[in-house]
This record gives sequence, C-alpha cells and structure tokens, in this order.
Amino acid sequence: MEKMQPVIQIEHLSKHFSIDNGFFTKGKKTVKAVNDFTLNLEKGKILGLVGESGSGKTTLARVILNLTSATEGTVLINGVDMSKCSAAEKKELRKNIAVVFQDPLSNLNPRETVMSSIMRPMVLHGMKRALAREKAREVLESVKMDAHYLNSYPHQLSGGQLQRIAIARALAMNPQIMILDEPTSALDISVQAQILNLLLDLQEQHQLTYMIITHDLNVIRYISDQVAVMYLGQLVEYGETKIMCSNPSHPYSKALMAASPILDPTMRGREKEIMKGDPGSLIHFPSGCSFHPRCRYAEEICMQERPEMERIGENHWARCHLCMQK
Ligand SMILES: Nc1ncnc2c1ncn2[C@@H]1O[C@H](COP(=O)(O)OP(=O)(O)OP(=O)(O)O)[C@@H](O)[C@H]1O
Ligand SMILES: [Mg+2]
Repeated sequence: MEKMQPVIQIEHLSKHFSIDNGFFTKGKKTVKAVNDFTLNLEKGKILGLVGESGSGKTTLARVILNLTSATEGTVLINGVDMSKCSAAEKKELRKNIAVVFQDPLSNLNPRETVMSSIMRPMVLHGMKRALAREKAREVLESVKMDAHYLNSYPHQLSGGQLQRIAIARALAMNPQIMILDEPTSALDISVQAQILNLLLDLQEQHQLTYMIITHDLNVIRYISDQVAVMYLGQLVEYGETKIMCSNPSHPYSKALMAASPILDPTMRGREKEIMKGDPGSLIHFPSGCSFHPRCRYAEEICMQERPEMERIGENHWARCHLCMQK
C-alpha cells in the first residue's frame, strides 16, 4: 500500500532569535529556540508535544503556522510550503489549520462579543454574515455552551469558557489540523476533562489531526497517539504514547515521566529518575549531547559528540548515544 502523505512534514527546522546584549555590552546573542527539528504528523492522529518551559514548543508551533519565518529548514502542510506561497494562497491554506493559544484571553479580542469573535475569521474568508452567524451558534453548541454567551465579552467569562470559545472559533473554519498550545493548563481538573473529551469527540467526527502542546503528561497519556519530547529546542525522543509513557528510552524523557504525578494506580511505585541541574541555556549550548550536563548516565562520548536522531524500535526514535548501545 502506498504510504499517505503526512499532513504536517517538518524537516530540519530551526528558529533562532537575535537578541540585543544590553546597553553596556556590545554585540548580539542568538537564542536557538528550535534546532534541527524533523517530524511528520499523519492524518487523523494526535501528537503530544512535551518539554520543559522554554524548550521551544510555542516557537515551533508559530513556525508551523507560518506566523514567524524559519531560520532554516522547511514545514510542508499537505505537501505545500506556506512560506513560499502568495498572500492569497496563504489565506486559503490558513483555513485548514486552526490554532488555540496558551493564554485563553489572547485568543479573543477584549472589545468584541463572542459572536463577532467567532464570526470574524469566517467573514474574512468571504462567508455571508447570516451564514457565519448560524455557524457561530452551531460551533458554540458543539463545545457545549449556551447560545446566550454569544453576546458576552471576554472579561465576563471564566477561563474554561474562554478556552471552549477559542476551540469553537477554531472549529468554525472546519480545519483539518488543530494546533493546541496548552489548551487545558488554565482550567481546573473537571473542566479539563470535559475539554479533552470534547476534543476527542470532534477529532473522531471530523478525522482531525491535532498537535497538542502541554506540560501535563496525564493529558498526553489520555489523549495522544504519539508523543514527541523536546529538550533545548531539539526533538530528543518520539514514539507511540504507550511505549513513551511506560518505557521511555531517552534519560530526559525518563526523568520527565518520573517527575509527573501518575493517576494510574498500576503504574505507581516506579523507580524515580531525578534530573540534576538547571534547564540548560538556549544561548550557550553544551558540547556533545545538550542533555549531558544533567544526565546521570552520561559517558565520555556524550560530552564530545552530538547524537543524531536514530531509530531504536518500531516507530520509536531517540537522540541518545546510550539508547543506541542497548
Ligand atoms: N520573539 C522572540 N524573541 C526572542 N526570543 C524568543 C522569542 N520568542 C521566544 N523566544 C525564546 O525562545 C525560547 C523558547 O520559547 P517558547 O515560548 O517557544 O518556549 P515554550 O517551550 O513554549 O515554553 P512554555 O512551556 O513556558 O510555554 C525562550 O528562551 C524564549 O525566550
Ligand atoms: Mg509555550
């Protein structure tokens, strides 16, 4: 059987920011937020992207969405490189790919009612106002919210309601792909569960492809098919959720999984992997493997040679010299 084209194809992607070194010190520094990142997302799958704060997750999402340009490498959405498209083509492609940002308030204009916020992208893409109004009602219902909220302003709504509206607004365009940056981190546990179930229902109904960025590994365990772990802007491990959660290979993934509280009683009592040191710097990278200063297993080679992403099992990849020796 011919292999389907991935919905999102990320190839050797890097994003570096140049920042001023301050008034008194001359010269610029480079923040290497994303480094040589390669990954494919298949249609109808949910990818969970995890990594510490500052590891480059939001930056990666912004480059995928073409909200900022890549320093190197490419992103293909259904085979098309958005950065090479005309403004009109980009507008058309954007319809297929929706985003829900980390901060619920940043998704909505504070001076607009929920109705106008949901309608705006549809009207911008040429839909008649009456039809857009109808669709706004429909999507609000699909996120299980009452129609009277359409007349509310963002400040009159709770975090959970705002997040649902952001999801409704994203869905209004009938996207094929949704990028959700911490969609539930601002919500309490019961609302979180509702939103995750809602996302799963919608995904099943419409065969959507999701990329979900989160700190919360329980969210990942619950919702995602595959997990990608990011450390200092690099992909360090990628695999099916089951393997990644029960038996991760990269020492960083092991430490991440061990650090997260587990709700599943059958998985308690695991050996704790304690990570030493601070999250590293995106400006001064360590030599060799960027994780070696914090890795309890590090050997000579880890300090000297930068490991590449290597296949270590069925649909399972890791960037670690020691994973390769197993
Ligand atoms: N516009 C920018 N200019 C300079 N540096 C930036 C810019 N945007 C992001 N960065 C830097 O890039 C790095 C990665 O940031 P990013 O927001 O992608 O992290 P993150 O993984 O999403 O973190 P969090 O989990 O806290 O949301 C950080 O060091 C950040 O300061
Ligand atoms: Mg972020």
